[in-house]
Amino acid sequence: MPTSRHIGLTRYADLPIKVKVTLLLALTAAFSAVVAGTVIIAGDIRELRTTMVNRVSGLADVVGANTAAAIVFDDPAAAREVLESLSREPIIGAACIYRPDGTVFASYGAPHGGAWPTTAPDGTTFADNHISVFSTIREGGEPVGTVLLCAHADELRERVTRAVLAALAAIGGTIGLAVAVSARLQRLVSDPILKLAEAAGRVSAGGDYSIRVAKQSNDEIGRLCDGFNDMLEQIQRRDRALEFLAAIEQAGDAIVITGPDGTIEYVNPSFERMTGYTRVEVVGGKPSILKSGRQSDSFYRDLWEALKRGDVWKGHFTNRRKDGSLYEEEAAISPVRDAAGTIVKYVATKRDVTREHRIEEQMRQSQKMEAIGELAGGIAHDLNNVLTVINGHAELLMERTKGGNASVTKSATEILSSGQRAALLVRQILAFSRRQMLQPKVLDLNGVVESMKGMLQCLVSERIEVALALDPEAGFVEADPSQLEQVLVDLAVNARDAMPKGGRLVIGTENASPTENAGADVSLAQARPDLRSGPHVVLSVSDTGCGMTADVKSRIFEPFFTTKDKSKGTGLGLAMVYGIVKQSGGEIEVQSAPEQGTTFRIHLPVAGTRSLSELADATTQHAVRGSETVLVVEDEASVREFVTTVLKGLGYTVLEASDGLDALRAAGEHAGPVHLAITDLAMPAMGGGRLADKLARVRPGAQVLYISGYSSGEGASIESAGPNMHVLDRPFSATTLAQKVKEVLSHGSSRSAVV
Ligand SMILES: Nc1ncnc2c1ncn2[C@@H]1O[C@H](COP(=O)(O)OP(=O)(O)OP(=O)(O)O)[C@@H](O)[C@H]1O
Ligand SMILES: [Mg+2]
Repeated sequence: MPTSRHIGLTRYADLPIKVKVTLLLALTAAFSAVVAGTVIIAGDIRELRTTMVNRVSGLADVVGANTAAAIVFDDPAAAREVLESLSREPIIGAACIYRPDGTVFASYGAPHGGAWPTTAPDGTTFADNHISVFSTIREGGEPVGTVLLCAHADELRERVTRAVLAALAAIGGTIGLAVAVSARLQRLVSDPILKLAEAAGRVSAGGDYSIRVAKQSNDEIGRLCDGFNDMLEQIQRRDRALEFLAAIEQAGDAIVITGPDGTIEYVNPSFERMTGYTRVEVVGGKPSILKSGRQSDSFYRDLWEALKRGDVWKGHFTNRRKDGSLYEEEAAISPVRDAAGTIVKYVATKRDVTREHRIEEQMRQSQKMEAIGELAGGIAHDLNNVLTVINGHAELLMERTKGGNASVTKSATEILSSGQRAALLVRQILAFSRRQMLQPKVLDLNGVVESMKGMLQCLVSERIEVALALDPEAGFVEADPSQLEQVLVDLAVNARDAMPKGGRLVIGTENASPTENAGADVSLAQARPDLRSGPHVVLSVSDTGCGMTADVKSRIFEPFFTTKDKSKGTGLGLAMVYGIVKQSGGEIEVQSAPEQGTTFRIHLPVAGTRSLSELADATTQHAVRGSETVLVVEDEASVREFVTTVLKGLGYTVLEASDGLDALRAAGEHAGPVHLAITDLAMPAMGGGRLADKLARVRPGAQVLYISGYSSGEGASIESAGPNMHVLDRPFSATTLAQKVKEVLSHGSSRSAVV
């Protein structure tokens, strides 16, 4: 049955190859031996039997011929005599002559089995190792009787036995030989197969594809070894290729592979992240998709020439992302050659260095500003000394020529006015070079901005809308309030100049921690680790004006850099802003593009953790309210009005005067005490100094606060402030004014004003 055969085969199938080979060989050999032996023996026996049969038949014929007459003449003795002559033939054991009626006529020897068989037709029979041959006896052609010869077939049996033994010996020998051959075959066949199997097992268990099987022959097994080793080699190569691919796919740098004509064939995920283009979008296209227009045509020409020469090209690109933004890129492009040395590809590794570039730019910028500040500060310091001498002597000269030569007085006045103008410039430069004394206070930026809104609106004219975007939660900063006001004024004036046809000026505050900020602020944090370490407040001033080119933007903080007419700008505004911000521990950055407006962002570290209510208390404490009487002497009606409004608002009683004489009159007329006189240093007819002199006689207890600054009024009497005098520098804010008034009044009790 097929099933049983199948089961049997399965059983054999699991036997080791060695056993299978041995069995196969042994069976084949034994079968061959048996077949060969059988064929030989059968042939041999047949031949022997034929020989024997022929011989016995021949003897039977001879006996028949010699006994025919005896039968005819019924002479059994003669027939017996013939039969006995058979004793010379050892293989004949018995013989018998039958009469035609089948009765025994004469016999020789004893019949096998004890009785003579009945007659039979001519022929030969084999039985019990005997050969019986019947032959008809004829006389004159007529049958007269039958002769039977019985011969021993022992020789035949011996022959068969000998042949079988020989065959068995041959089979045994053949099997032995088969076993010996199979052992040899085992070394040639099953050992290599076993090794292959072991190697395959190790590969699948350990994944070690570096294993190789030693080839022992060139037969099928040898070819199998070669195939196996080749397969492992290919797997290893594919593994290595996959590892390379994984490395390229996961590389932090962008990698682009192009054909020799620059057609993109591959980009890795870093490229996609860097440029915003997906692989599908760029493969088949050209790298020029990233062109920003910042590099010249000759730049690309040189690049291609170098690549075609087979050189590695290294350089810097400013490229454009898919979203249109620009980024800085360090790139290295290398030709890839085939075995014949032909360039078949280019591989480019690219790194986005925008952040590093920006930080470097900022560093360079701040180093440049540092150096300029150092230089300008040094010059301003020396110049200050020189100006002190010039201005001092000009004043002396004015005193000495008073009432004398009018033209000399006028010259002295001119010298002093120019000297004071120069002193103002020097002060600005000192602000830029961070060499001025600051009086930092913890401030609510929102409060400062709000209090200045009205003033800024006046400053920029009604063509420009001033809007505030203040974060009510904005933290407090520590800065000099008057300097901060100066910063806002400078930025607002610049915004005004940038929006001659009007626009919008937005001043905002917001809390920021660099980690939350994107873009520029992150690089700012890297450039300024001190700002990174804690939260900071950003004061921003944005306009919708003409904006700046990159070139202008890179120079705006330099002192004396201006794009305005000589009459309009000195180029010191932003230099001062820069100095003040830096000196306050902050940082300033600008975002601007032509016709896109400008935004200045000033980062100031958050001061302490005081809450709004605490600050409110502090502000009230500081404050600024009062009930004393103040005499305001100022020839500029607008300034006088401003001062008067502020002071009245704070609870002071205010007496107004437009010049010295008016002031003396007002002081005289006032019934109550005059605690403080605020006077312009430079006024027509009588300057602030002389007024103070005179006032001291009328109101000896009154303190004096001078308003400094150049006035171009005709015939102005200009006086400079001496030491130990209270001076309020122009321009000043309401806060500064209030604080200064409070400060001077509080001095009143301790010392009287030096006038
Ligand atoms: N908001 C702005 N929009 C466009 N350009 C600006 C802006 N602010 C400054 N600039 C450019 O920066 C230059 C330098 O400004 P800065 O304030 O230092 O000097 P200035 O305004 O020219 O003169 P000054 O302020 O001394 O009167 C300006 O001349 C102008 O070109
Ligand atoms: Mg300016």
